Amino acid sequence: MLLQVMQEAADAGAAQLRKFFGQSFQISHKEGLNNLVTEADHASENAIIDVIRNHFPDHAILCEEGGAMQNTGHTKWIIDPIDGTINFANNIPICCVSIGVEKDGEMIAGLVFNPFMQELFIAEKGKGATLNGDKIQVSNQKNVENSCLVTGFPYTYLDQPNGPLDVFERLIRKGIPVRRLGSAAIDLCWVAAGRFDGFYEHHLQPWDSAAGFLIVQEAGGVVTNFAGEAFSPYQPKIVATNGYIHDELLTWIDPNRIKNI
Ligand code: IPD
Ligand code: CA
Ligand code: CA
Repeated sequence: MLLQVMQEAADAGAAQLRKFFGQSFQISHKEGLNNLVTEADHASENAIIDVIRNHFPDHAILCEEGGAMQNTGHTKWIIDPIDGTINFANNIPICCVSIGVEKDGEMIAGLVFNPFMQELFIAEKGKGATLNGDKIQVSNQKNVENSCLVTGFPYTYLDQPNGPLDVFERLIRKGIPVRRLGSAAIDLCWVAAGRFDGFYEHHLQPWDSAAGFLIVQEAGGVVTNFAGEAFSPYQPKIVATNGYIHDELLTWIDPNRIKNI
């Protein structure tokens, strides 16, 4: 039932993405240059919430545009109505709907749907992860120097020591490919599918990571914060890998880590 509703909600959101994609729509700016929100983000979010409310009126909801709603239920839906809004606004079909479901503080299901590539990723806690119904698993690359990585950049906080630009430069100067797709949820799913060996980002919000981190874990990967501790979507830093390169990638992100152990 929960998975069915999750899929119905994602389809309703995705219908809005399809409707607005490539058309002219209203764009407004949030905090920071180029931090956009479009008419399509709002339409997708409303469509998703309507489906959830119809089936589970007492569940809590945390969504990017509307914030926290009905914050009392044991089950919470964490929604990004469009992850990859800048791509969406530029007609780049790398964007998705992301929905995570948390029960009593534990993520129990996650869905990421890119309607333009027709890729539907779903994970259920303890039951594995799928892409369009087929089981997926992480890569078996064993070291960072031979890895293909992906990251994203926040709109602020770029320049601290070991911040986004520092870490990126360190990897790029070594010749390690680090892609930047512009959708954290898709980045995570592509780690889960073995396309990337690892993903890291310095400043995500719960709706960026909630579904994708479970999808990586259920595909056999490892997800932590930068200190190597268990990941929570309520803190900003994420490292998600195939597991084999995890400790090594943590050290590339913070070279002092070796000294601290
Ligand atoms: C953004 C994307 C991007 C990440 C940003 C997020 P949005 O989400 O996930 O990849 O680097 O930090 O804010 O704004 O497109 O929903
Ligand atoms: Ca997002
Ligand atoms: Ca968004």
